[in-house]
Amino acid sequence: MSLSTSQIREKVEQLGPWFHNLDLGGVATAPDHFLGDYPRMKWKHFAAVVPADLHGKTVLDIGCNAGFYSLEMKRRGADRVLGIDFDDAYLAQARFAAEVEGADIEFRKLSVYDVGALGERFDIVIFMGVLYHLRHPLLALDLIREHVAGDLMLFQSMQRGNPEVEPLEENYPFWNYELFDARGFPKLHFIENRYSDDPTNWWIPNRACVEAMLRSAGFSILQHPEDEVYLCRIAGQRADAHPVYPMGRPA
Ligand SMILES: C[S@@+](CC[C@H](N)C(=O)[O-])C[C@H]1O[C@@H](n2cnc3c(N)ncnc32)[C@H](O)[C@@H]1O
Repeated sequence: MSLSTSQIREKVEQLGPWFHNLDLGGVATAPDHFLGDYPRMKWKHFAAVVPADLHGKTVLDIGCNAGFYSLEMKRRGADRVLGIDFDDAYLAQARFAAEVEGADIEFRKLSVYDVGALGERFDIVIFMGVLYHLRHPLLALDLIREHVAGDLMLFQSMQRGNPEVEPLEENYPFWNYELFDARGFPKLHFIENRYSDDPTNWWIPNRACVEAMLRSAGFSILQHPEDEVYLCRIAGQRADAHPVYPMGRPA
C-alpha cells in the first residue's frame, strides 16, 4: 500500500488509541506511551533468544494487539504468521500496520480460550502480556499446550511480589502453614477491583509462580533473558499430574 505520510497519520489517529508504538512510514503510533518506546525497548532485551532465521517456520501470536511481534517474526522470514486477539480495535490496527509494511500476516478475532478451533500446531507460539489479563490463566496455558504449541513458546507476564524462587518439595504436610508466607513460594495475586486503572488485570503472579505454572502446563524453561520474559519448549506433563481440565494429556 502506498500512502503519503499525512494519509498514514490520519488513519493512525482514526484507529487510536494505540498500545503498541509502531513506526509506520515515519509515523509513531503511540509516541507518549507510559512505558516509553513500547514494546521496542522491551524487545531489544530478548530479541536474540528468538531464532534469527524463521524461514520454513509458522508462528502464532496470541493477544497480538497491533502486531509488533507478528511483524518482527515476519521480518525474520516466517512462512506463516497468524495473530489473534479478542479486541476488534487492536485487530484493525494490526491489519493496517501490516498493510503499510507490506507484510503478509493473517489477523483473526479469536480468544486464547478458543485456540483449539485452529486445529494446527505452530513452531513458535508468542504469548506475551496476556496471562495476567485472564480470569482463567492456567486454563489458557493448558489449552495452548494441548492444541497449538508445536515447539517453542515466547512468554511474558507482569510479575509482582518477591522475585525470589525457592526449590519446591514434592509434597508438604497439611500442618505446614509457614510455607504460604515463604518469599519464594509460588503466589498468584487476585485483583478483585483495579490495578493500574485496568479492569482486565485479574491475576498477577510472582516469579516463582510464573515458572511453576509454565512447568505445570507442560513447558520447560529454556531461557530467561529478561525479568518477565521466558523462552520455553514443550515438555511432557508430570506422570502424576491429574488436572481436572484437560481430561486428556497433550501428545
Ligand atoms: C498487554 S496487551 C499485550 C500485547 C502484546 N502481546 C505485547 O506483548 O505487547 C494484551 C493483549 O491481549 C489481548 N487479550 C486479552 N484477553 C484476550 C483473550 N482472551 N484472547 C486473546 N487476546 C486477548 C488484548 O486485547 C491485548 O491486545
